[in-house]
Amino acid sequence: MQLKFDWLIVLENLRRGIMVTDTNLEAPSGPRIIYVNQAWLRMTGYGREELAGKTPRMLQGKHTDRAVLTLLKKKLLRREVFHGQTWNYRKNGEPFLMNWYCYAIYGERPKPIYYIAEQEDVTEIESLRMKQRLLADPQDQEALQFFAVLRKL
Ligand SMILES: Cc1cc2nc3c(=O)[nH]c(=O)nc-3n(C[C@H](O)[C@H](O)[C@H](O)COP(=O)(O)O)c2cc1C
Repeated sequence: MQLKFDWLIVLENLRRGIMVTDTNLEAPSGPRIIYVNQAWLRMTGYGREELAGKTPRMLQGKHTDRAVLTLLKKKLLRREVFHGQTWNYRKNGEPFLMNWYCYAIYGERPKPIYYIAEQEDVTEIESLRMKQRLLADPQDQEALQFFAVLRKL
């Protein structure tokens, strides 16, 4: 098996968004964004040059659920893997539903050296699912709330 190959080209061409940060979780300056791949830039509409010194909080907004973020922090501090969905916002202000995993990357020592997130925009697939739910029950509150965020009802 060949271990010496161009990892950056692989990361840049993954279909999922990848974000790597430092391990300082304290607001307002941490966690700082260290790297994002091209899928992440396409998903959010930002350019790489706009991310210097920024934290992933730049994606948060009115409908971002604080409880999910509290859970994320708790999981990372307990060295567990976080998986969740949250409303985030593209550069143009458009909301999208982010499905993401977040966890620590370890080097040779037991202390984390980076945090990484694997992220995917699931707005379209969730819209289809929520439409089905509304067909079955036009009063489905979760589905109504979903489209209220997208302002599509
Ligand atoms: C690697 C990594 C990626 C993150 N990506 C996002 C993201 O895409 N969207 C988001 O809302 N928060 C994201 N966060 C969470 C925020 O950076 C922050 O940790 C969260 O808001 C909890 O901290 P706070 O309670 O101080 O705001 C990410 C955190 C890490 C460590």
